[in-house]
Amino acid sequence: MAKEAFTVFEVGPRDGLQNEPVAVPLEDKIAFLNGLLAAGVRNIELGAFVRPDRVPQMADTDEIYRRIESGEIRLGKARAWSLVPNRKGLERALQAGARNIALFTAATDSFARQNIGMSVKASLAEFSGIVADIRSSGKSIHVRGYVSTAFGCPFEGKVNPRKPLKVIEGMLEAGVNEISIGDTIGVATPNQVDLVIKPALRMVGKRSAQKLAGHFHDTRGTALANSLRAIELGVRTLDSSAGGLGGCPFAPGASGNLATEDLVYLLEGMGFRTGIHLHKLCETSAALLSKVFARTNRPIASRYLQSYLASASRTHSCASC
Ligand code: HMG
Ligand code: MG
Repeated sequence: MAKEAFTVFEVGPRDGLQNEPVAVPLEDKIAFLNGLLAAGVRNIELGAFVRPDRVPQMADTDEIYRRIESGEIRLGKARAWSLVPNRKGLERALQAGARNIALFTAATDSFARQNIGMSVKASLAEFSGIVADIRSSGKSIHVRGYVSTAFGCPFEGKVNPRKPLKVIEGMLEAGVNEISIGDTIGVATPNQVDLVIKPALRMVGKRSAQKLAGHFHDTRGTALANSLRAIELGVRTLDSSAGGLGGCPFAPGASGNLATEDLVYLLEGMGFRTGIHLHKLCETSAALLSKVFARTNRPIASRYLQSYLASASRTHSCASC
């Protein structure tokens, strides 16, 4: 029997790197992107058209698109995504040639204001205008919407599920193609996943489950458990970050996303087809982390990658003895 396909949406080059304290050189990013693409990643979030002074790690997003155009980044059939916070961001994205954009807001006003300088209501109004402009231009642009702080907020604490559901409703009305539900600070537990994702799935309709994605940060070690719950409920797209890199500069305490290696291992073991080659993925993540972490001396978050590297070093020392 053919395996069911599952979409692993790689956010490492954006969510993973945006919080890094030391600049990652463009050439290292390009090698990272090409490694991820060669490993079979088909949805890759590679940048953000946000204010470069607020998120310096994303300041080279326009240049990354130029390197796609020149063929230096070998996108092949993959979809390249970038964050767009407002009309100025859209203008930059269209100029760069972006075909897939991700608008982002939150379930809570305090976080939305801190992150994008707008209330949730104002951001939804901005997004409706942006999507309407895109649709009336006739351009074929795929739009994702992020709902951050869907379970917990760094400023308001535990979030009532009614709040993210209202934002999801607003995004669907605005006409986005898909919605990613974010546990921005990694506080959710599987029972909370039920309370948001079950009604969200009812909202999009059972046959449109591909419209919903889960985006779990692993701050308290619950990202894989939450992902499993989302899978059981019918979600077939999950966001993750190579090596488990990540965090949001505007969400105090947020740490890395669910690691792509751990997610792919889980999914393939459960009989899904991700199209991602784990060995190649591990080599790519290890190469990037050896550069990034060499400067900051941090442990690797991905459990699968840790075990991969431990067995690689055992094999190496045996071969040489
Ligand atoms: P603002 O300052 O409120 O914007 O920024 P403004 O309209 O008041 O404009 C002020 C100046 O900024 C103007 O320049 C604009 O042109 C410029 P001036 O006239 O003074 O020279 N400007 C821009 N420049 C470049 N690109 C733009 C842009 N917009 C205005 N797009 C803005 C509002 C949203 C841009 C700002 O607050 C910002 O950049 N925020 C960063 C947000 C961010 O990147 N957050 C992290 C990603 S979200 C996340 O991690 C969560 C997620 O992973 C899901 C989850 O985990 O839950 C997605
Ligand atoms: Mg995130």
